[in-house]
Amino acid sequence: MKSLEVRLGRLTLRNPVLGASGCTGHGYELAAYTDLSRFGAVSLKTFTAEPRAGNRPQRIAEVPSGVLNSIGLQNPGRDVFFAQVMPRVLAALDRDQIIVSVGGNTVEEYVSLCRETEDRFGGQIAALELNAACPNVAHGAGWFSRDPEAAHDLVKSVRAAVSLPVIVKFNTNYENYLETAAAIEAGGADALYTTNTPLGMKIDWRTRRPAIGNERGPVCGPAIRPIGVLRTWDLYRRVKLPIIASGGICTWEDALEYILAGASAVGVGSAQFVNPNAADTVLSGLEAYLDAQGGPCWSALIGAAHGS
Ligand SMILES: Cc1cc2nc3c(=O)[nH]c(=O)nc-3n(C[C@H](O)[C@H](O)[C@H](O)COP(=O)(O)O)c2cc1C
Repeated sequence: MKSLEVRLGRLTLRNPVLGASGCTGHGYELAAYTDLSRFGAVSLKTFTAEPRAGNRPQRIAEVPSGVLNSIGLQNPGRDVFFAQVMPRVLAALDRDQIIVSVGGNTVEEYVSLCRETEDRFGGQIAALELNAACPNVAHGAGWFSRDPEAAHDLVKSVRAAVSLPVIVKFNTNYENYLETAAAIEAGGADALYTTNTPLGMKIDWRTRRPAIGNERGPVCGPAIRPIGVLRTWDLYRRVKLPIIASGGICTWEDALEYILAGASAVGVGSAQFVNPNAADTVLSGLEAYLDAQGGPCWSALIGAAHGS
């Protein structure tokens, strides 16, 4: 079988199929349902300095071809994350599979959390992922996706503080997203992680009220895939950084579409709510496709739709 190993800057992954943050728990929760060794990596649920209760329920609602979510970065906070979550992660996943997703309200907070993560676990994890994407919090994360200067400042500051590879997850749902991507590249990130989750709403006709407590929330799932593919296509032309793309990937064909548009790796997100084995299914399909092709190695497929 051909190797699907992929390099993202200084980061080498065993394969290009990642479990996306917030949709894969911390990996170990899925052990009964899927073979964890098949994940190229798992982006752990984002943690923040203080515990966050998240937004008021309901927090998730099914919509045509996807879900609205409004979790609001619920997590137990740094102390519990380090003391209770990380030991279980380290027992379940290999070093090269662990990507720690960090959320903050300020540059200083990101720097301090990244530094502390590296000090405690630097030799046992593959990379840090800065969650600069979340549109579900009033301040912080999403802000960096809207402001190229702020994104540059964030990445440069974290880059200067840690030596682990740094992946920056940002939201391409803003008009200036190509500028933000260029700023993230200039700041010294190892890879870009893209997600396009436009805000949406569902009204429950029975209660005559919004279906989720926060009224609005990002749309995830197949509904956003064509937009995500376009964003990946445009980013590939704009930046040289390797791209990890998420947005509606359910099958290996969906993943391949993103790869041909320019992604080096993909994140499988809400598809795992329907099938907790979804990432493995996507990977098996890609492996079979590559073997059937006989010719190209994995890297030759990245951005191949752009022609030579
Ligand atoms: C319930 C839920 C929780 C999420 N939590 C996080 C999170 O904590 N951190 C993060 O970076 N992304 C989070 N995301 C975004 C996903 O990682 C992914 O980028 C997004 O869902 C798009 O992929 P999909 O269309 O395959 O679901 C969350 C998504 C959902 C649906």
